[in-house]
Amino acid sequence: MVSDKVENALNKQIGFEAASSQYYLAMASWADTEGLTGVAEFLYRQSDEERMHMLKLIKYVNERGGQALIPALKEQPQKFKSIHFVFEEVLKHEVFVSKEINNMVEICLKEKDYTTHNFLQWYVSEQIEEEAMARKVLDKLKLVGDDKGGMYLFDRDLPSIAVNTASSGKE
Ligand code: FEO
Repeated sequence: MVSDKVENALNKQIGFEAASSQYYLAMASWADTEGLTGVAEFLYRQSDEERMHMLKLIKYVNERGGQALIPALKEQPQKFKSIHFVFEEVLKHEVFVSKEINNMVEICLKEKDYTTHNFLQWYVSEQIEEEAMARKVLDKLKLVGDDKGGMYLFDRDLPSIAVNTASSGKE
């Protein structure tokens, strides 16, 4: 059984994961219309992952005797000023999510909820990977700068860079 404090924190996190999924979906759809097929593929996949993070939390809360609350969908931006801006936003967002996960870990320790603390370790590791991935993509974008040929290659290679980084389990 989860305490009210832990249940509230988990429900708040369900909202953040849902918001991440929607935000990345908006970015993916925009990239798709800009001819950035590789970027779109990467972001569609990120959006799916965030939905999976949300679902994992929903099932956990319900399994532990709480009630998962499904958040409302918020309208998303339809346009983004640049691809650099998109990935700066991804990094900013992931840093924010990491901070929130750390807060939840702290709440679990205060509440002596070691089961949820254990469950959250998966999210702690996942955040290290997601932040690293966003930084890596931003580094590559800095190298590309305004070079159109570089952007073509970046877009072509992004889905495989992402898969390789994820499967290596680090960086
Ligand atoms: Fe599930 Fe990227 O936070």
